[in-house]
This record gives sequence, structure tokens and C-alpha cells, in this order.
Amino acid sequence: MRKTKIAPSLLAADFGNLQRDVELVNQSVADWHHIDVMDGVFVPNISYGMPVVKSIAKHATKPLDVHLMIVDPNRYIKTFSSLGASILTVHYEACTHLHRTLQEIKAEGMQAGVALNPHTNINVLEDTINDIDLVLIMSVNPGFGGQSFIERTYAKIRDLKTLIQERKANALIEVDGGVSSENAKALAEAGADILVAGSFVFKSEDPSATIRELKEIAG
Ligand code: DX5
Ligand code: ZN
Repeated sequence: MRKTKIAPSLLAADFGNLQRDVELVNQSVADWHHIDVMDGVFVPNISYGMPVVKSIAKHATKPLDVHLMIVDPNRYIKTFSSLGASILTVHYEACTHLHRTLQEIKAEGMQAGVALNPHTNINVLEDTINDIDLVLIMSVNPGFGGQSFIERTYAKIRDLKTLIQERKANALIEVDGGVSSENAKALAEAGADILVAGSFVFKSEDPSATIRELKEIAG
């Protein structure tokens, strides 16, 4: 039986108590730590960079799922590998040579992810799907936590699932943005393998219980 993975996004953590919130994820039923790196160019916001990722890595006990919302991510593949990323996801829209970028991520021993903005059709991955370990479907416009979920995401997940099956590819499907107990089940049923949740987890009264709730609902 399939089990949907939950990846709490530390973007919504209390940065004044970062170690506490990383340890909260360690001790919860979460599967991965989702780490959002924004450069203020690819997206209209700046989150945090290498020193903070290094501090997170020092305390984290689960795989680091790093989501780069930056231009020209090639420049930093080696850096994120040395910081301990297990999965490194770059945006399709930020890569001129996506195939090369994927090979370089894998050569550094990480799993290679590709993120798609809400406006990007999944068919742009037809020629690379067999080289991708994970596709991250943005269900909000990247840059900020706490935005409303875009309903068209379900159709995109289903289309992507069909492409993966047709090509006999192994890519996992991750959904990021506006995930909550309201949509977790429907997302898993549509074909999502990993759910990222920021505000819904960290703005709740008991984040650990909320992570468990999401995991149970998604099944
Ligand atoms: C948004 C980030 C997300 C964000 C999700 O650009 O990629 O990972 O933290 O936050 P919520 O779950 O609050 O929409
Ligand atoms: Zn993210």
C-alpha cells in the first residue's frame, strides 16, 4: 500500500527557534525537511541562504529536500551537495540547459527534481521525464507561504501521472503550496507522492499533530 510522504516547509518555521522547529520535524512522522531557497530575482522574495541551510542540516535527521527558487541554479549544485541536500529541485523556468543540470545534480550524488510554476504545462517534461527523480508541481505561485491553493493542480497531477506511466519513468510527484487537511486526500488520490506544507503545519497549535493528521488523511 502506498504511503504519501509529508515534507514540512521550514519557510513557515520560527527562525528565532529554528533548531526547535527542525527537531520538531525530526520527532514527527514527517518524511523530509523541505527547504525553500529564494533569491529575490527568480521570485519576488528572499528567504535564506547557505549559512541557514547549514544550520538546518546540523540538526536535521531526515532527508533535506531543497527547493531552489533561484536563477541559474547550476552555479550552486556542488554547494548544496556539500551542505547535505538529498534532493535538489531546480525550476524548469530557470534552466536553459535542464538536461545538463539534471545530470550534474545526479553526478553530485543527489536526487534531481524539477519544479513547474502554475503557468507551465507538464508537457515541457516529455523529453526529460526519464532523467528526473521528482517533479514538484507548484500549486501556488512561488515566493511566499500562506497563499491559496490553485484548483487546476489536480488536473496537472493526473496529466503528469499519465506521462510518467506512459514513459515507464520513476519520477515521484511532489505538490507544494496551499496544502492542508482540506485537499491532502484529493491530492494523494490524483497521484501526489509527497505533500509539502508550510503554514498549515507551523501556524497550527500542535505542528507535530498536524503533520500526523496530514499523513493519515493522505493515506
Ligand atoms: C512557496 C514555497 C513553499 C511554501 C509553502 O514558494 O515553495 O514551499 O513554503 O507554504 P504554504 O504551505 O504555506 O503554502
Ligand atoms: Zn517549496
